[in-house]
Amino acid sequence: MGRRKQRRALILIGFMGSGKTSAGLRLSYCLKQVIEDTDKLIEDRQGETISEIFASKGEEYFRSLETSLLQELVERKFHQILSVGGGTPLREENRKLLHQIGTVVWLRIQPQTVYERLKEDHTRPLLQGENPLLRITELIEERQEAYKAAADVIVDVDGMEVEEVTEKILDAWNHYKKHSRKKETYETIGN
Ligand code: S3P
Repeated sequence: MGRRKQRRALILIGFMGSGKTSAGLRLSYCLKQVIEDTDKLIEDRQGETISEIFASKGEEYFRSLETSLLQELVERKFHQILSVGGGTPLREENRKLLHQIGTVVWLRIQPQTVYERLKEDHTRPLLQGENPLLRITELIEERQEAYKAAADVIVDVDGMEVEEVTEKILDAWNHYKKHSRKKETYETIGN
């Protein structure tokens, strides 16, 4: 019997509020594939919300949970759609694991858009300080290189509804699969 071909995931990365969860759900509906979300898996397994984990055990502990989960996911033969927390691509080890799991789509977003979307949100421990817009701007700036290094495909999401973002993801993903695997070629697709 021939070996079963491994299927690569479509992986969504991006800053908090970039719409990974909503685009992921819509992709799941369009492609009739299951979506998994690393934050959700961690919360279910720990029996605590992300905020509770940050508060009781700290950010580093949460980061180690993210890495162990990716190490586990890499062992799977069959992948579907995966969305990961906004900080997951920061570790080089995680970026390598993500590339082993699938094609990485970065939902790129501007700080002001994140601020508008998340100003009433209290579930993101990293954004609960004094000046959230400044914090968002600094974090996005700090993370650009890591996101870029992780991304096979970039889709800009500012000013777009989830339907349009989903279409762009599908276009960019299909293009990426069909043509060469050089990521530079695909950066403009989302623009
Ligand atoms: C984080 C993003 C969150 C969650 C945690 C840390 C980050 O996920 O993993 O609060 O460091 O950007 P979302 O991007 O799904 O909000």
